[in-house]
Amino acid sequence: MALSRYLLPVVWVLLSAIFVAEAANADHIRKLGKTETRRNLLDNGLGRTPQMGWNNFNHFPCKFDEELIRQIADAMVSTGLKALGYEYINLDDCWAELDRDSKGNLVPNATMFPSGMNALTDYVHSKGLKLGIYGDAGTLTCAKTMPGSLGFEEQDANAFASWGIDYLKYDNCHNNGVSPQERYSKMSKALLNTGRPIFFSLCEWGQEDPATWAVGIGNSWRTTGDIHNNWASMISRADMNDKWASYAGPGGWNDPDMLEVGNGGMSMEEYRCHFSIWALAKAPLILGCDIRSMDNDTYSLVTNKEVIAVNQDKLGVQGKKVKNGDLEVWAGPLSGNRVAVVLINRGTSKATVTAQWSDIGLDSSAIVDARDLWEHSTSASVKNELSATLDSHACKMYVLTPH
Ligand SMILES: *[C@@H]1O[C@H](CO)[C@@H](O)[C@H](O)[C@H]1NC(C)=O
Ligand SMILES: *[C@@H]1O[C@H](CO)[C@@H](O)[C@H](O)[C@H]1NC(C)=O
Repeated sequence: MALSRYLLPVVWVLLSAIFVAEAANADHIRKLGKTETRRNLLDNGLGRTPQMGWNNFNHFPCKFDEELIRQIADAMVSTGLKALGYEYINLDDCWAELDRDSKGNLVPNATMFPSGMNALTDYVHSKGLKLGIYGDAGTLTCAKTMPGSLGFEEQDANAFASWGIDYLKYDNCHNNGVSPQERYSKMSKALLNTGRPIFFSLCEWGQEDPATWAVGIGNSWRTTGDIHNNWASMISRADMNDKWASYAGPGGWNDPDMLEVGNGGMSMEEYRCHFSIWALAKAPLILGCDIRSMDNDTYSLVTNKEVIAVNQDKLGVQGKKVKNGDLEVWAGPLSGNRVAVVLINRGTSKATVTAQWSDIGLDSSAIVDARDLWEHSTSASVKNELSATLDSHACKMYVLTPH
């Protein structure tokens, strides 16, 4: 399309100007030693970079217990994932009994958690990790096996804090049509009032454009419905999430849902794209496979330090799709005037994907060193464009450092 060919560079130049201003602002703020940016952040000090961790839902939906969670915590440490920054171990739906106790408290399922929640948080904390839990901003959770927290926000937040919980994923089922702004800010305040820093992950499925209202309420907000373990679902989550890029930043992130890497429904190259785009888009890196028994491919994807470093870059600007179509380019600025780039072949046959400097916000005369984050190799003094021939559903990821 002729129009988009001319419009995209213009849009990118404008975006780059904003990124530069943001970066200058962030530097200025760091120099002043302030923790607040001009965005009105949730005041819990968390999520300065996207959260990293694990959640049972994609691999063990409704099927987990304290023994599994302890083994996952052990594996986080023994596999080296913890040392790479994976920190939260999050329980999803189904952890509680269907009925509250006589005082209205949530009761952990006694078969799944015979030792109780405090024992589990103690164990997870003893490994230097954090424990997350799941709730619902309605009357019943999505699996309908436990109560929601609508009308019980303070009581449930206090219970979570008393158990030593560090993270809450808060779902959106059976919500009686009450506005999400009202339901999610109630829990946000209740969590703050506990005095315990609890990461607040909104799972509103992007229904009422949470990016536009959740910045002061949560540390991340889902922009999409649930991911499924296939290419079409994964790549469509990436597209939907991309729309909200300008709202993300330190303290509050867009969430295109958790990772399926290692769950077997996509090829190695498709999972490489999944992990690359999530990293570039500053999405939460919440693993969803059985990390006790990762195969080598999975391990090599989720432990790539250079890709994780893009996700955790202190500039905190979400990378965006800058060239549409089957041969896509995604890019975003990093600290130190660097640029992260992902090239994707979304087509059905082998093809060459090219990023012109004008596509990715570089001056046409720029000379860069191009680090291939998956090959772990550097091409020195690259000019004009970056290009790669890729199989169908394959990706390349680079960090470009201008001379
Ligand atoms: C509690 O956990 C057991 C074992 O997983 C399960 O059979 C039971 O249905 C659960 N109770 C509820 C209310 O989900
Ligand atoms: C996985 O990697 C390890 C260490 O690099 C190697 O010894 C092992 O043979 C690999 N396993 C497979 C199935 O490729």
